[in-house]
Amino acid sequence: MAEQPLGAKCMDKNLREIFERDGFAVIPNFTAPKKCDELKQRANELIAEFDPAKFSVFLAHEGSVNDETYFLESSDKISFFFEEDAFNTKGELLHPLELSINKIGHALHARDDLFRSFSTGPDLDCISQTLGAVDPLILQSMYIFKQPRIGGEVTWHQDSTYLYTDPPSVIGFWWALEDATKTNGCLWVLPGGHKTVPLKSRFVRKPNGVMKYEVWDRSPWPEASQFQPLEVSKGTLVLLHGLLPHGSQPNRSDRSRHAYSLHAIDGKADYPAENWLQRGLKQPFRSKNSPEDG
Ligand code: FE2
Repeated sequence: MAEQPLGAKCMDKNLREIFERDGFAVIPNFTAPKKCDELKQRANELIAEFDPAKFSVFLAHEGSVNDETYFLESSDKISFFFEEDAFNTKGELLHPLELSINKIGHALHARDDLFRSFSTGPDLDCISQTLGAVDPLILQSMYIFKQPRIGGEVTWHQDSTYLYTDPPSVIGFWWALEDATKTNGCLWVLPGGHKTVPLKSRFVRKPNGVMKYEVWDRSPWPEASQFQPLEVSKGTLVLLHGLLPHGSQPNRSDRSRHAYSLHAIDGKADYPAENWLQRGLKQPFRSKNSPEDG
């Protein structure tokens, strides 16, 4: 792996070359710290408006997504998912609500004015096209909290498992809204793994409506020692190829690790009806308007 990170935004001529070689690219200082703080504040406001009586637990391990209906319906909503360790054995919260949420998903980019504005615009459109998307469409968004002490592990996975297209076209945009370190659960990636590890599974909707992992490759993940930590500072944008194996460790520190992520696909690629996200509000980066329900 040669030089990373990049110093410029979408016009950096090395961006596509690095992304195709490594399966990821790091752009420091992409977003101003003040904007990161605005997004953090808005996420906290959304939690304050949230009625915890309508909650679901999001378990970030393969095969253990609970409350499937709530999960599936989150594709076009602002929905809240708790950290796995947020509750005691009686189902009571162990920490304040704002320190118990794992993530908000999956349509902040469509349903909230601030996140919509942040998630659209020419820079992101340009990056997507530079990376090869002919007709880039935002498919989903997530605000990830990685809470102090209880922030859950995200096991090795490929984003194309969840957002499959033919040909593969998923691009993940991941912003560090706070400094991300090995201590508070930064991303870990397998450099070049998008070319060496086949898509290992797909998360598909069966004809009876039940979601299942369809395993395509039973070989083990590469050794953990081959993965690289992405310790990045607040405001950094990380771009991830949909086939790149990645994950993050639990956060046992006393510092949160907030991040915002968007996933885009190429509208020219085939998007199967078995993908979990069918009611998603696909929209181009260029659009500042709320998309039609689809
Ligand atoms: Fe991911």
